Amino acid sequence: MSSIRDQHSVPLNDGNCIPILGLGTCALDKPVKGETTEAVKTAIEVGYRHFDGAFAYGNEDEVGEAIRAKIADGTVKREDIFYTSKVWMTYLSPPLVQKALAKTLKSLQLDYVDLYIVHWPMALKPSDEELVPKDADGKVLKDDVDLRETWLAMECCKDAGLVHSIGVSNFNRRQLEMIVKMPNLKYKPVCNQVECHPYLTQNKLLKYCQCNNIVLVGYSPLGTSQHPEWSSKKNPVLLNDPVLIMIGEKHSKTAAQVILRYQVQRGVVVIPKSFNPGRMKQNKEIFDFQLTDEEMGSINGLNKDGRYIILEELIDHPMYPFHDEY
Ligand code: A2P
Repeated sequence: MSSIRDQHSVPLNDGNCIPILGLGTCALDKPVKGETTEAVKTAIEVGYRHFDGAFAYGNEDEVGEAIRAKIADGTVKREDIFYTSKVWMTYLSPPLVQKALAKTLKSLQLDYVDLYIVHWPMALKPSDEELVPKDADGKVLKDDVDLRETWLAMECCKDAGLVHSIGVSNFNRRQLEMIVKMPNLKYKPVCNQVECHPYLTQNKLLKYCQCNNIVLVGYSPLGTSQHPEWSSKKNPVLLNDPVLIMIGEKHSKTAAQVILRYQVQRGVVVIPKSFNPGRMKQNKEIFDFQLTDEEMGSINGLNKDGRYIILEELIDHPMYPFHDEY
């Protein structure tokens, strides 16, 4: 049985470690009931041990069901699995952080999560009903919460033993620095999970994170082809990029495998989403080849600072993270 340490993993600044490859579980096409459970069970069978989830994905009950089934049938032990969850924007006021975590743990029917992260650095008015609460005119109800206070509540979750590590997501450098420089900081964020792929290489943010011993976790590593309409002239379909396809041909690998290899080779944790058994397996087969320095350079050269995930309706939120350069 493989433990997390046997998997290709990266140390976190709190002494824990994170497998460098995980399975994303955000299915935007609203999977039919049971699909997430089946996908996560299959993933465990083919060797995935790291799962990236969130309250907002609406399927943590199914992820938990799959993990518990695979523990019950003896395939894995709880400590073999690394599960990440995220506190949503309507729960960033400090007293609500633990409430959100309790909801997640109840859905999962697990005692703890391995990593709990602040999903976005933007607070919305508290709501159990809506992910993005709006007033009668359809205006998003923003909230004004000091993220440093949210972070203290995250630290309490760790001290309570309900989460093993804590981190953030979608924070820009300024927002990360605000947390890192807190005078009363007890635990530094272990990670910043951000969109990252060859069209958005995040070199500056990666450097900042590496200098501060914060792991960069890259979401939408395949350019999130889940939503073809997100592709644009600026951001064409990543997996169709001729440079990636050509490099793949040299190694008898697909463009997806080249992208994932590129990230693990530069120390970025990747969480490609696939609920398809064949593609799940394909995305795991990235540890039996190496990209040359020249190939790594060519992939870096594809960068266009192009985001697929914009969150347009929050663009005027005072804490919107993507107005800064990085
Ligand atoms: P599917 O679940 O049917 O495999 P991202 O992780 O960047 O958000 O991308 C996820 C999207 O990419 C999903 O639509 C997923 O579809 C698809 N996908 C995942 N792995 C591969 C792959 N190896 N080749 C092509 N498409 C993939």
